Amino acid sequence: MTGAVKVAVTRRLPEQVETRLSALFDTVLNDGDEPLSQAALIERAQGADVLAATLGDKLDAAFFDAVGDRLKLVANFGAGIDHIDVAAANAKGVTVTNTPSVLAEDAADMAMALILAVPRRLVEGVTALREGKFEGWSPTWMLGRRVRGKKLGIIGLGRVGEAIARRARAFGLSVHYHNRNPINPHMEEELEATYWDSLDQMLAHVDIVSVNCPHTPATFHLLSRRRLELMPPHAYLVNISRGEIVDETALADMIEAGRLAGAGLDVYERGGPNDKLLGLSNVVLLPHMASATVESRIEMGERVIINIKMFADGHKPPDRVILGLDEDF
Ligand code: DGY
Repeated sequence: MTGAVKVAVTRRLPEQVETRLSALFDTVLNDGDEPLSQAALIERAQGADVLAATLGDKLDAAFFDAVGDRLKLVANFGAGIDHIDVAAANAKGVTVTNTPSVLAEDAADMAMALILAVPRRLVEGVTALREGKFEGWSPTWMLGRRVRGKKLGIIGLGRVGEAIARRARAFGLSVHYHNRNPINPHMEEELEATYWDSLDQMLAHVDIVSVNCPHTPATFHLLSRRRLELMPPHAYLVNISRGEIVDETALADMIEAGRLAGAGLDVYERGGPNDKLLGLSNVVLLPHMASATVESRIEMGERVIINIKMFADGHKPPDRVILGLDEDF
């Protein structure tokens, strides 16, 4: 790329990231942090070489058709790329990058927090106390389920899944996982992880399920009603990946009916949780905050900058999304 590289940013980013972007490139920021309308998004991208986009920006085939020829790189702030039609981008000569590794540890902390919080009824306890319902210790009040010794089934043992597995081992959980292919034997041995070729069989066997695969057409409602019904009634579900992977209506029905013991969710099918989930006490609902640490967001910004800089200097950016590869789990 020659001349000043024009970068359009779609949302507010951490201050030092914006400062650095502005120092390195001809950068248009979004000071107001308002999500852009589709028309505004297209207009912003039309005048730029690089779009520093993020979750919530709908970059579909129509967007890439409308955007014209100048745009050459979408540098996504975030790991998930289900809001980007990468094939349509590539067909128009647009490279897509993401920020895959820097948020894995923080996201795994949050998954682990949910794995602990739901069986141990952490939020129920806090709520009861705040509502004045704590009348002193009792042998039979607020009993949860022990975490140690339980079987954790990870759907998608990638970067985040692996970081969760390491934490889970420290808490005495045994690790089970379903991927399209087994992970390398050394890591499997280190994690003492059991591979399940059949997701159905794993679901029937484990006590806690953690969803960590990406959302793709192939994983939409991977946890369908039929599959959720395979889980034992004492089992819990944790999802910090994408809401669309779980049939949320079925999940709420099953928890309400006592067919599942509870859930910890950071992501939802339609942005926020459905009304039934909101009314259930044995679910912990978070507002998509698994990667929300200052450190993570700054490092995500760093990756965005590195990807843009490498691309602008004529090199392959390190976090190129490669179709097929990144959809695997
Ligand atoms: C991502 O990076 O896609 C996450 O969902 C944001 O936390």
